[in-house]
Amino acid sequence: MKRYYCKRLNETLNFDALKVFYCCATRTGPSIDVPSPKNVSNLIKKRNSLIKMMDRGVIPKECEGCFDLKEQENPKPLLLSFFSKPSKSNLIIVKHFKQCDCSCIYCCEQYLSGRKIVLKPKKSDYYDLLPIIKELYKKDIIDKKELDVHFQGGNVSVLEEFEDLVNIFIKNGVKRIEIATNGIKYLPIIENIVDKTFVDINVSIDSGCRETFKAIKTVDKFDDVVENLKKYSKLPLLLRLKYILVRGVNDNQEEISKYINLMKSIGINNSELMIDQCDSEFIQGNEFKIPDYYYKLFKFYKEECIQNNIEPHVWEYVDKILEKGSFFK
Ligand SMILES: C[S@@+](CC[C@H](N)C(=O)[O-])C[C@H]1O[C@@H](n2cnc3c(N)ncnc32)[C@H](O)[C@@H]1O
Ligand code: SF4
Ligand code: SF4
Repeated sequence: MKRYYCKRLNETLNFDALKVFYCCATRTGPSIDVPSPKNVSNLIKKRNSLIKMMDRGVIPKECEGCFDLKEQENPKPLLLSFFSKPSKSNLIIVKHFKQCDCSCIYCCEQYLSGRKIVLKPKKSDYYDLLPIIKELYKKDIIDKKELDVHFQGGNVSVLEEFEDLVNIFIKNGVKRIEIATNGIKYLPIIENIVDKTFVDINVSIDSGCRETFKAIKTVDKFDDVVENLKKYSKLPLLLRLKYILVRGVNDNQEEISKYINLMKSIGINNSELMIDQCDSEFIQGNEFKIPDYYYKLFKFYKEECIQNNIEPHVWEYVDKILEKGSFFK
């Protein structure tokens, strides 16, 4: 009998708007309804039952065909019982809010927010996360020393509880905080935390000039982002830029060259290129065939980055997608 496990399932609590998922944002894996602060233990109970299920050789429906599902090598079955101490979480993903101060034409999150641009910080339309995080710490369900927190969303610049969340993680000795942001608004709290934890700022700019930025992000804020990137680049943190290939807009060598020149001019040396996930929805049967010119673009991107001393990352699954010739099935 084959037995299975998934590293992500063991570690992750991904707080989305309507559900909490047990793996990262790129999967629609197993989930549970958002708990009230009073019953956060249910998060862990459900996860343990999924771990046990896989260990018995049963693959949850949501995990079928997933790259991350692995066969157990340990010959002994796990001894997880109803009474065992719950294993702790070391990856928390914060994306329980969808509001944003721009409206990217490709954004997967905007279907919930109705593409409305929000300029002032406000509460999430779904729930407050701070009381739940407090309860998780109280119940000792978070692996304090190893905790990695990823802020996604929405954009944190318009989330009212953003700074309180950062502060509670810092107070409890978080190991690493990663913030994905559009960079339109500078986040001053970052200056206060860079000497307390490892900070990774990931800015999705998708362009190297004002016109293309505006065509993708739908707001005329390219210059503000460049100014903010210059400020972040002076701080002791990891600063990464991200470029989503949007078909018919920035999917050509000229735009990629402008993006690389921008990185060079600011002194940013870490980049990630990614395929627009929405492309999978454009084709019948939910399958997106990779166009031939994408292979050339990826090669061009890597060569240009290397020439300019920039680390040419691609999103962790892009290589697999290119190999298969299609997006997720
Ligand atoms: C939804 S955003 C939230 C954080 C922040 N507002 C930002 O843009 O970085 C998180 C990440 O998802 C990426 N993303 C959103 N829609 C996508 C899509 N259709 N395909 C690929 N990546 C996408 C964004 O570029 C960003 O890096
Ligand atoms: S196997 Fe895949 S879908 Fe299932 S929990 Fe792991 S990452 Fe998520
Ligand atoms: S900045 Fe982020 S959350 Fe906002 S629309 Fe763009 S990808 Fe979506």
